[in-house]
Amino acid sequence: MRQWFWAAAWVVGCGGTQPAPTLLDEPTEELPALLSEVGIFPRMDDPSEVSARAIEFAPRYPLWSNGSEKQRQLVLPEGERVDVSEEHWAFPVGTLFFKTFAYADDGADDGLRYAETRVLQRLEDGWQEAAYLWREDRSDAELLEGRTATDVDAEHEGEAFVHEVPSRRQCRTCHESAEVEILGFTALQLDDGEGQLERLLELEVFDGEVEGERIEGEDAWLLGYVTGNCVHCHNGFADGANSSFPLGHEVFLDNTLGRETESSASGIGTRIVPGNAEDSVLYLAFIEADNGTGIEEMPPLGIQLRDAEMAARLKAWIDDLPPL
Ligand code: HEC
Ligand code: HEC
Repeated sequence: MRQWFWAAAWVVGCGGTQPAPTLLDEPTEELPALLSEVGIFPRMDDPSEVSARAIEFAPRYPLWSNGSEKQRQLVLPEGERVDVSEEHWAFPVGTLFFKTFAYADDGADDGLRYAETRVLQRLEDGWQEAAYLWREDRSDAELLEGRTATDVDAEHEGEAFVHEVPSRRQCRTCHESAEVEILGFTALQLDDGEGQLERLLELEVFDGEVEGERIEGEDAWLLGYVTGNCVHCHNGFADGANSSFPLGHEVFLDNTLGRETESSASGIGTRIVPGNAEDSVLYLAFIEADNGTGIEEMPPLGIQLRDAEMAARLKAWIDDLPPL
């Protein structure tokens, strides 16, 4: 009886086609060369279908990634939960996080061209970062070595450009600049006002109660955007790989309005000049690489197409601020 049960579980777990155990079954094993062997997508030709063990989620304030469509999943080791007893959540060894990027593609049946799937794997001694590059025909996706960034031809709203799959070092620049490596799976990011946190609580993903967390007020759209796009580095955490002055939602206004830059590079100026976006270093760094401030474009990596819509909104917001 017991044996029959396990055999049945096996077949379900592997989508009925592959008898071999996948990474989902043995989540601390070495990452397989092909994404099909990971087990997150039972059918590679239709990645909208995910393993029954996967818990899907979406951060309320996502990272802008060239306007791509993204899907994200968490897979916990059998019988394990996220430890929420401390301020920073702890994930059991064997936890897997996935994030898959796709672009609109009129030629595809489902309108999508899959670009890459990123993986964070919790091992005994910390998180391992990796990415799989999708074959154009979707027959599979291949594990990248990760020493350099890899180019993928992509298109967003009719504009052709090259999407870069980050190198492993670039993953770390963002994921290891804060105290916690997991960036989009936090109380603030999961409490989306649409029942996501409640759904996860019902699924018993956590080993205790989780209080929701919200950014309040009329500037929430901006403070939220900065949370999803800047605070993984701008958190004031001194030991981070690439941390910088804090821009968390509680301190953003204090640290930017009328505040001089303190960059170690040659850039000098005021972060935000209320009433004048064109004189504000933060705005100039946000809109383009060659911004005349002597400061790198912000965010400094992970973007090939800048977020024009947010740039326009940010400009209008700064221009409308009453001068100090
Ligand atoms: C520019 C900064 C940046 C880079 C580079 C980056 N990430 Fe992330 N990543 C984020 C942020 C911010 C989130 C959460 C927000 C979101 O998903 O939209 C995230 C989310 C994720 C998630 C979902 C779990 C989580 O932390 O929320 C995975 C998996 C992931 N990234 C893997 C990778 C891997 C692997 C690489 C390198 C190949 C990489 N990332 C490179 C910033 C980055
Ligand atoms: C990958 C990490 C990273 C991300 C993401 C990032 N920054 Fe930065 N930022 C830095 C570092 C490091 C510096 C200091 C660079 C230098 O000295 O030129 C910096 C400098 C700056 C500066 C100028 C220095 C100063 O003292 O004011 C501004 C303004 C800024 N960032 C704004 C932003 C904004 C806004 C975002 C999000 C849209 C963002 N950054 C995202 C790492 C990051």
